[in-house]
Amino acid sequence: MQLLKQFYQSRYYKKSLYGMIGLGVIGAVIVFSSKLRKQQSKQQSLDQFQSNEQSQQGTIFNNLDKCSLSNLDQVITLNTSIQLEIDFKQQILIGKVILKMKAIKQINKVYLDTKMLDVQQVKVDGQNTQFNYKQLVVKELGDQLEILTQKQANEEFQIEITYSTLQNVHNEQVALNWLQPSQTFGNKHPFLFTQSEAIYARSLFPCQDSPSIKSTFNIELTVLSHLKAFGSGLIVKETSEGDKKTFYFNQPVAIPAYLFAICAGDLEKKQISDRTFVISEPILINKCTYEFSDMEKYLSSIEEYLTPYKWNQYTVVVLPKAFPFGGMENPNLTFLSPSLVVGDKSETAVVIHEMIHSWSGNSMTCQNWECFWLNEGITTFIENKMVGKIFGKDQQTLHGLLGDNSLEKSINNFGADHTYTTLSPKIDQQNPDDCFSVIPYQKGCQFLRFLEAQIGEEKFQQFIRLVVSQNTLNSDQFRTLLEKFLIENNIQGVDLQWQQWIVNPGMPKEKLKIDEQFIKKYQKLADDLYENQMLLQDFQKLHSNEKCFILDLLGNKNIDQKLLQNLEEEYQLFDSNNPEILHRILIYGIKCNYPGALGDKLSHFLSANGRMKFINPVYRILAEKQSDLGLRIFNLCKNSYHSIAVAQIQRMFQK
Ligand code: BES
Ligand code: ZN
Repeated sequence: MQLLKQFYQSRYYKKSLYGMIGLGVIGAVIVFSSKLRKQQSKQQSLDQFQSNEQSQQGTIFNNLDKCSLSNLDQVITLNTSIQLEIDFKQQILIGKVILKMKAIKQINKVYLDTKMLDVQQVKVDGQNTQFNYKQLVVKELGDQLEILTQKQANEEFQIEITYSTLQNVHNEQVALNWLQPSQTFGNKHPFLFTQSEAIYARSLFPCQDSPSIKSTFNIELTVLSHLKAFGSGLIVKETSEGDKKTFYFNQPVAIPAYLFAICAGDLEKKQISDRTFVISEPILINKCTYEFSDMEKYLSSIEEYLTPYKWNQYTVVVLPKAFPFGGMENPNLTFLSPSLVVGDKSETAVVIHEMIHSWSGNSMTCQNWECFWLNEGITTFIENKMVGKIFGKDQQTLHGLLGDNSLEKSINNFGADHTYTTLSPKIDQQNPDDCFSVIPYQKGCQFLRFLEAQIGEEKFQQFIRLVVSQNTLNSDQFRTLLEKFLIENNIQGVDLQWQQWIVNPGMPKEKLKIDEQFIKKYQKLADDLYENQMLLQDFQKLHSNEKCFILDLLGNKNIDQKLLQNLEEEYQLFDSNNPEILHRILIYGIKCNYPGALGDKLSHFLSANGRMKFINPVYRILAEKQSDLGLRIFNLCKNSYHSIAVAQIQRMFQK
């Protein structure tokens, strides 16, 4: 104590204090003036950006993908090198991207997709090059970056673009999601994650943002040293300079832009097996390693049905609650919603689904978003098989039936003649999000089950292996591949019913065979629950999928407040920690104005979840039945939702 007092009174302390103040003032002046310069140059480029935006309009230049503004049938990307600094203070990415490209024919321009980007400089093969922005009539597709350069057919060249993302992007749908510390589990550090599928990679870097264009990647990410950053590739090295760290990743397999992803924050990585890893905030890491401890088993089961896993390592990141999906199959960096961490591994089918995308989606990729079912339908079909192999036949049947229920609901919501209920919707110069639903997943899966029933399990497995060995496919190419396979294997009498399954809206007339006995068993349980005849402990013993299926069956009955009170008090359904269960019961509750579904439990559910699968249907029913309450909760929660979710929910209240 005495020593401390002496120190404070000493000249040394005073000198160092003045020194510190002096340095602080100088530092502040430097920071302020450099900030001012940055702001000014940013304002200039923004002004330029806006004037270009108003003066010119872009055009779609390719026939392959009507959601991309790039001339991708004239030029392709071979490699993408991205160097980014993640600036949490300003909430922007600053850096450059180098695209190694190849002209397919003679060109005098390269058009790239961009959205909400501030491009400062473009060099082609090291030379400063003129560029222009053109904003398209369809605002949702972003802006077309025109680069004036002449190249011969087959010529390879490099485009280097220095740019940053824009600050304070409100009311725009972009890939970036910047989170405040309060929006993380740890509460102490900021967090960043991206979501590029379907057409948001263009808001991360100028690119050919189409699933038909595949490129290898090098990714360099710089962050403050106490944080970590990850990219969708294999880690190469990590370097340190001053108070910053740079992480280097390589993606040696060519991937479409929508599979590019990064995340950064206070993160910890744990190894599960030789090739599987889990990343999450430190506070959640033990729960996550338990929940996903069987990943090696899942991966080897999938390999057995398909082919060897070609991506080397498989890593999942459990993100903060704002992540709008259950999972996203970014290569070597699957993103998962924390809603899957329920403590009993009952939601791990989502991980299995994302793993399967390593073959269907990430190896064989749909050529454009009109044949998205090739990614998701094939994945869902294999997912169902793997659930059977890993968790048993009953779980598989249940999983399939829950999928069928969701399909029926979705088709009823759209109306059976709605164009978005077909597996080949027209998506012309619009955001593919507009027609996103479970239909490509479940109708696609049912189509494959329909084919398998005719072709036989073993032969069909061979065909699926053939499918996932392709690079990209559209629906017609899938059909050609199948027809050729049938001829080559001398398989006759298969009726594809192509028009019914792929072209027509609604459900094909032909119902798939279902196990009547199986459904009867659950119908009996649903009746017991309805009549309050089931013991609580018997109900508690059921798997969450069984509970969900029973709740779906209850939907065919007359649900009133008395029943809900019983489900709340006797069966504690409103306290479930499983959002698959909770969102079902909340929807029933809101439908009949049950007070227990309109209070704290509802607002807590909507603030603790950002996954669209759960919050969207709850908001949809609120918009219908309790619009004021819904809007009030939405306004409180929307800052913590991803911009993709905000856009969709906002639309529900505008109708
Ligand atoms: N690739 C999708 C997520 C996606 C699709 C993001 C379209 C953006 C546009 C992912 O593989 C997925 O399907 N996730 C599902 C889980 C699955 C088990 C149905 C999800 O998030 O619910
Ligand atoms: Zn998927």
